Amino acid sequence: MRMLKGVRYTAVVLIAVVLALVGRFALLQPETSPPSPGGPFTLVDGQGKAVTDQDFRGRWMLVYFGYTYCPDVCPTGLQTISQALRLLPSAKAEKVQPLFISVDPQRDTPEAVGAYVQAFDPSMIGLTGTEEQVAAAAKAYRVYYRKAPESGRAADDYLVDHSAMTWLMGPDGRYVTWFAHGLSAEEMAAGLARLL
Ligand code: NI
Repeated sequence: MRMLKGVRYTAVVLIAVVLALVGRFALLQPETSPPSPGGPFTLVDGQGKAVTDQDFRGRWMLVYFGYTYCPDVCPTGLQTISQALRLLPSAKAEKVQPLFISVDPQRDTPEAVGAYVQAFDPSMIGLTGTEEQVAAAAKAYRVYYRKAPESGRAADDYLVDHSAMTWLMGPDGRYVTWFAHGLSAEEMAAGLARLL
């Protein structure tokens, strides 16, 4: 009887130790995994007003990085975002703030990005900033961009290579998912409809 009690006691202690270790491991997990894309940014909108990621808390953000001189990739990407939002029921579309962040602050003035995005979607916000502000935002979102100065004839005539995915961030500003460039508006809308 006493031995049985001892075995039972040992079993309870063992289970407690295992649970404590599992709990500790589970708690440590988020810190050991790599950080998700996204994070704080401070940029400038089409009216020249300072805008931060905090301004969009409570709304979903669709974030696309590009530049207004982009010959075809950005126009396609922004058209897809705009069409996808129009395919969604308006109650869902209204929860989403599409953002276009310039990776070409040298040519993309606040006025230029503001006017550019209006041509695609009146609800879209165009953002630019200083070289440092743009670089920090791109780094946070793991977006690659590189000016190709050899591509044009004049100093201000160049292409910019850049990542062209669309990031979906939740109302708390955290990363939810991303949409690859080349996805159709229908596919993006279906993905958004499931998540929103
Ligand atoms: Ni582009």
